[in-house]
Amino acid sequence: MSDLEAEKALAAKRAVDEIQDGMLVGLGTGSTANYVLKYLGKRVAAGLRITAVPTSRMTEALARELAVPLVAFGGLSSVDLTIDGADEIDQNLQAIKGGGGALLREKVIAAASARVIAVVDSSKVVRRLGRFPLPVEVFPFAAEFVGARLADLGVPVSLRLQNDDPLLTDHGNHILDVAFGVITDPQQTALAIAAIPGVAAHSLFLSEIDTIIVGRDGAVDVRHADRS
Ligand code: 5RP
Repeated sequence: MSDLEAEKALAAKRAVDEIQDGMLVGLGTGSTANYVLKYLGKRVAAGLRITAVPTSRMTEALARELAVPLVAFGGLSSVDLTIDGADEIDQNLQAIKGGGGALLREKVIAAASARVIAVVDSSKVVRRLGRFPLPVEVFPFAAEFVGARLADLGVPVSLRLQNDDPLLTDHGNHILDVAFGVITDPQQTALAIAAIPGVAAHSLFLSEIDTIIVGRDGAVDVRHADRS
């Protein structure tokens, strides 16, 4: 296992320690979230009683393999604790997610969660957001229009492809990746993108994350958001 993989696994294991009997748990998407599933599966096999809600079809499939009890989010409006990865996260626990294309459901489930823990390897921690292209999920019929409005912000925009066709998300949408380079004012950027008709979700997570667990040098750093 590479150093970064080991850091992901360490962060994930520490986060799974926060899960308690009776909780409804949001399950993130991606390689770090997969470690969460692996450790959660072990705890469930050992007798932990929880129910979980997946943020993607991929996560749902892995959770089923690991016999983690699932419920669909459709009939719910709140979740106790969600554990998810991130593509970039800064000192204020503001993040870019969506590299795995699951941003819409990740965002809704994070917003519904009493607590969100982000689990990352040390390479994800940045001083300023934006080097990772910001994913924006759009309704397909509006993709051209939204792409043009985003390009008006003066940044390169690309339609995410899969096998030469536009990638289809779990919700049948497309994704535009917006290469900001540096996002100087995340709040303003979030507002500007959310105001474009046709945007289903953008992947700036500015207030959803309560705790970050970073795997680093064989240990974990745990930090909580200061929202006082
Ligand atoms: C998926 C996500 C992931 O959490 C993010 O892309 C990080 O993935 P990984 O843990 O594989 O680096 O937001 O939409």
